[in-house]
Amino acid sequence: MPDDSLPSDPSEQPPVYWPRVKEIMDTIMERWIARSGRQPLPGIHDFYWETSQALKDSILSGIRAIEPGIPARDTALVRSLARAIGTSGRMPLRGPFLSREEVDELVAWIDSGMPEGP
Ligand code: HEM
Repeated sequence: MPDDSLPSDPSEQPPVYWPRVKEIMDTIMERWIARSGRQPLPGIHDFYWETSQALKDSILSGIRAIEPGIPARDTALVRSLARAIGTSGRMPLRGPFLSREEVDELVAWIDSGMPEGP
């Protein structure tokens, strides 16, 4: 019987595929727009990714979001969403921020090689 009160072993988490990652990323901006009452300013950096390749190649305000061979938690993408990045605050700026579970899903996706699907 699994005990839900224990911290789970990441290797036992179900796999995460691109459609779920896209949903998480789109939801970040949906919540941000709802909270701030406006669209994000153009010219800051990209806020949407249509394909997994676009996210893999993304450079946000001069910083490469995901780097091959770098563990997910050390990538700028995950650091920006989980804590803060450079001199900017945690992303998306002024929130609402991702839950720990959502960050964990992004981490699982990146560390498993960013799979499109099963
Ligand atoms: C490499 C990672 C990232 C870097 C270096 C970065 C950097 C920045 C910078 C420099 C700004 C402008 C700050 C300012 O005006 O004071 C900004 C704003 C913002 N970023 Fe990021 N960011 C990153 C990732 C993300 C991600 C993944 C999202 C959401 C999906 C996001 C959402 C936003 C939003 C919503 C704003 C505010 C836009 C506005 O005010 O119109 N950022 N970011």
